[in-house]
Amino acid sequence: MRILALESSCDESAAAVLDDQRGLLAHALFSQVDLHRAYGGVVPELASRDHVQRLLPLVHSALAEADTTPSDLGGIAYTAGPGLIGALLTGSALARSLATAWGLPTIGVHHLEGHLLAPLLEPDPPPFPHLALLVSGGHTMLIEARAIGDYRLLGETRDDAAGEAFDKSAKLLGLPYPGGPHLARLAERGRAGVHEFPRPMLDRPGLEFSFSGLKTAVLHAVRALPADAGEADRADIARALEEAVVDTLVAKAMRALEETGLDALVVSGGVGANLRLRERLHAAARRRGARVYHPRLEFCTDNAAMIAVAGLARLAAGEHDGPGIRARARWPLDTLRPPAAVRDHAP
Ligand code: KG4
Ligand code: ZN
Repeated sequence: MRILALESSCDESAAAVLDDQRGLLAHALFSQVDLHRAYGGVVPELASRDHVQRLLPLVHSALAEADTTPSDLGGIAYTAGPGLIGALLTGSALARSLATAWGLPTIGVHHLEGHLLAPLLEPDPPPFPHLALLVSGGHTMLIEARAIGDYRLLGETRDDAAGEAFDKSAKLLGLPYPGGPHLARLAERGRAGVHEFPRPMLDRPGLEFSFSGLKTAVLHAVRALPADAGEADRADIARALEEAVVDTLVAKAMRALEETGLDALVVSGGVGANLRLRERLHAAARRRGARVYHPRLEFCTDNAAMIAVAGLARLAAGEHDGPGIRARARWPLDTLRPPAAVRDHAP
């Protein structure tokens, strides 16, 4: 089976073609960062309008790159939620329209299931069951993934997501939007130990996170800088912020491995692109005899290839949407079921 997949839940428009025999045949992406930069964050209405313009050309280029015509396709997957409702509706409406014209079934995919399954595209995919650390701009979760579609939430953030801690701190440091990668680059030049930021909730049992206090710590550190402070001083703050977030994520992930007895750890979502986090997780897991798996760097952040993986698993099992246009701004991950446990989804 070969499918087309669309992603449009936030500020990336993307299309991909995945074949169950030949693997990923094409993926095309347009990032709207330039559009939103002036506002310092994603403007939902601008995002929706831009998806409307970008998605169809991306579909054409992905199909061309994959040397695929609509008659080669067995279905269309698209991100049905969670995300910005207007942005989701553009992908959902396009998927339904193309599917009606081409006589194909569609499947609405959970965006986080996409992130969780992205490492299945790699040559050495993770085994099930495994522990997943999902760290993005909107989520920070530890999940026991028993099988595709069988997810148990072990812990999540009580306030800001890890990506938000990076993005908000980056803003306070005067870095351009989106801040996470800029802050990580600045942190490379920072000295360790100049600032000590709190490791939120580390001293308490459990697998919950809390990152909202860190931006206050960054704010105080920025305000305390002398008037002639330069790039190197800001780099020290960036380093301390990154260390605090990474330390917390690593410690809770190791605690979750300990509590579940699992020995495979998947790291996914945009913050999973952070190199210090990757290195530290590998080192800590190795000491426990556990292995870490992650998607290639470009599939850590939003993309349609990961939506294709989740969509193909479900379409191939005979699962598909009803005739309506599906989009959910909120959609709890643990309401998902394994492929084909529900065959026909209501609109
Ligand atoms: O998964 P994603 O593309 O979108 C969501 O679904 O949220 O994640 C985006 C988040 C942003 O907060 C971004 O700043 C962060 O991932 N991010 C990073 C890095 N690359 C992206 N954070 C820290 N270090 C990075 N290298
Ligand atoms: Zn995402």
